[in-house]
Amino acid sequence: MKRDFLHIDDLTAGEIRQILELARDLKARFARREHFRPFANRSLAMIFAKPSARTRVSFETGFAWMGGHAVYLSPQDIEIGKREAVKDVARVLSRYNDLIVARLFAHANIRELAEYATVPVVNALTDYNHPCQVMADIFTIWEVRGRLDDLKVTYVGDGNNMVHSWLRLAARLPLHFVCACPEGYLPEAATVEQARATGLSRIEILHDPRAAVDQADVVYTDVWASMGRKHETEARQRAFQGFQVNEALMAATGRDSLFMHCLPAERGLETTDGVMESPASIVFQQAENRLHMQNAIMLTLAGNP
Ligand code: CP
Ligand code: NVA
Repeated sequence: MKRDFLHIDDLTAGEIRQILELARDLKARFARREHFRPFANRSLAMIFAKPSARTRVSFETGFAWMGGHAVYLSPQDIEIGKREAVKDVARVLSRYNDLIVARLFAHANIRELAEYATVPVVNALTDYNHPCQVMADIFTIWEVRGRLDDLKVTYVGDGNNMVHSWLRLAARLPLHFVCACPEGYLPEAATVEQARATGLSRIEILHDPRAAVDQADVVYTDVWASMGRKHETEARQRAFQGFQVNEALMAATGRDSLFMHCLPAERGLETTDGVMESPASIVFQQAENRLHMQNAIMLTLAGNP
């Protein structure tokens, strides 16, 4: 039975920990540019309905390093769901490829893609979530701190796909997760409830960024207007006043907190140039780890093909 990776909690806690170990091992092998070709003679279809730098390049270079061939399909190439039905694209690409990675708008579309594809499907971001990113994020925190216990992550900004990803991680690994967002920009209530219902993590949704970051190990932010919402940029800039992760907010944690951002960052809006460039910022290590984490995910789903 093929396995997909659409949400972080499609994995068990044990599998998440195994994937973290595998990513660490693959990172060391990649650093040596070791000859490692588990995907020789295999191909990966990469469907992108939205722009991407990190996700596209890390999947493509990662799959090539592992001996396979990756085919990038831009938003103009297949126009999934418009030029052709999602379920048709799923079955056609499954006949050429061993794995499908997709970045789409509606989450229902990636569910449909996975339902009809006969090869594993990996979610490379939807309007709802971004599981590869949060896997790379928790891997980075583990690398930098050396442990995952007793962890407080405060997210400041829009209750968007990154927040849903953190909430779903909190349903698998114990965390203290705080989301500080304006009243009108909350994460989906059902996802918050689902995370709380596991009883594993402490989840808080607050509206005061200074109170939220107190004693945080990690302060995390993301753009105020996600892809597909860029036309709301001006209204959002007004709504998010006071939610910028700047030097004063980092100082308000009361400790040596780490700063993380999934990138791309809009410097001067959700964060500042100073915070991005500060010693607290681990954003580039975080971006680098997308490669190693996704290699680990692909191997776990479709390894030894
Ligand atoms: N963080 C992230 O997914 O970046 P891209 O949109 O550039 O892929
Ligand atoms: N929330 C952002 C994340 C980009 C990686 C977006 O969806 O545009």
